[in-house]
Amino acid sequence: MPASVIVGLQWGDEGKGKTTDFLAEQVSTVVRYQGGDNAGHTIVIGDDTFKLHLVPSGVLYPHITPVIGPGVVVNPATLLRELDQLAGRGIETGKVRISHAAHLILPYHVALDRAREEHLGGARVGTTQRGIGPAYEDRSARLGLRVEDLLDPESAARRLERVLPEKRALLAALGAREYEEAVDAASLAGLVAGWGERLRPHIVDTTDLVQRALARGEHLLFEGAQGTLLDLGYGSYPFVTSSHPVAGGATVGGGVAPLQIDEVMGVMKAYATRVGSGPFVTELTDSIGERIAVTGHEVGTTTGRRRRVGWNDAVPLRFAVEVNGVSSIMLNKIDVLSGIPEILLCVAYEIDGRRVDRWPASGAELARAKPIYEHFDGWEENLTTARKMDELPEAARRYVTALEEVAGAPIVLLSVGPERTQTIERAWRPLRRGGR
Ligand code: IMP
Repeated sequence: MPASVIVGLQWGDEGKGKTTDFLAEQVSTVVRYQGGDNAGHTIVIGDDTFKLHLVPSGVLYPHITPVIGPGVVVNPATLLRELDQLAGRGIETGKVRISHAAHLILPYHVALDRAREEHLGGARVGTTQRGIGPAYEDRSARLGLRVEDLLDPESAARRLERVLPEKRALLAALGAREYEEAVDAASLAGLVAGWGERLRPHIVDTTDLVQRALARGEHLLFEGAQGTLLDLGYGSYPFVTSSHPVAGGATVGGGVAPLQIDEVMGVMKAYATRVGSGPFVTELTDSIGERIAVTGHEVGTTTGRRRRVGWNDAVPLRFAVEVNGVSSIMLNKIDVLSGIPEILLCVAYEIDGRRVDRWPASGAELARAKPIYEHFDGWEENLTTARKMDELPEAARRYVTALEEVAGAPIVLLSVGPERTQTIERAWRPLRRGGR
């Protein structure tokens, strides 16, 4: 019954898409359990590059059922665009399954996200402006529309009539501009009806699908979006996303129970990046940061925003390994650090004159933290052709061992380039193959 969870150990953009894609061969089903089209997976196969926001990356494998779980917020317009793009490139999309219980992102959620960010000015979260927060707010307030509502346009229209006055008032109070269409009942009803017609064949009870597949002994992969440090509960609040990317999120948003999970693979990069506002203790604003950003192509898949870059930070890393129950790690983009004379690793913080080893999970406390670094020799060699650990220079191996020690979990896969094949497998024993 193997169930594996893939979780980001940093602020998202750790390369989870590549990890999922690498492991996909041995699984029957890939389930997204939270987030929405704020995520962005870039997958490179040969000369083809695929950029996905909502559809689980497993879609690229003919044998995989890609599932959008009940914990996801779905913008049907994005989803249909992505399905069309994939189909246009010859990818079979009829097999995509969407939970009837996933919540919808509607145009007024996007308008609210934008208006609220503008209203917050300098205190803005730096969201992706995809309506993620407002959609999750409605879910908690029991005001949301779910994917199942697409199948009953009349009931959806009645629900919309009830929520729209509140949305109009909110948008007006926030000083939003050009939002009339986003709260127009007739236009929304038309959209809902059209989306329902197209998405109907994909909508199912995905929890039942997941449980049946587990009962048949298949191997399932639960794919988190964003990362642990953006988790609503464990991240640097308020500079977080509105869902739970941590491994536990798979249980409430993916349809799997805690004791059904056999493996949690944490994914991290050889350095750190962050998009949006919020404290970043190890941030590099010098030419080394610039060099890493350029070499690592650190530009957001969803927003096109340049990511902030910094040294790796063991403080949140240890925390992420603990709260996710990480059993193994995939370390991505180690090739990007070639040619940097000295590599720094933050091992603790100094906050108000005290040494702090624990992640404070508070934006306010983190804003006062200063990094305490350990220094490592860099290496000149290009790593992109290495396929075994002993093909890496000694300095790179030493850095990998140090990361492993501070994390407290084994690094079993290392990525040295974007291609599927640019991966070093180390002491890695794939779980048994599932129902294929
Ligand atoms: P939201 O998820 O759009 O509400 O944005 C909240 C915060 O999470 C912002 O700092 C975003 O930049 C960040 N964020 C959301 N999705 C991603 C992602 O996939 N990668 C990295 N950062 C993200």
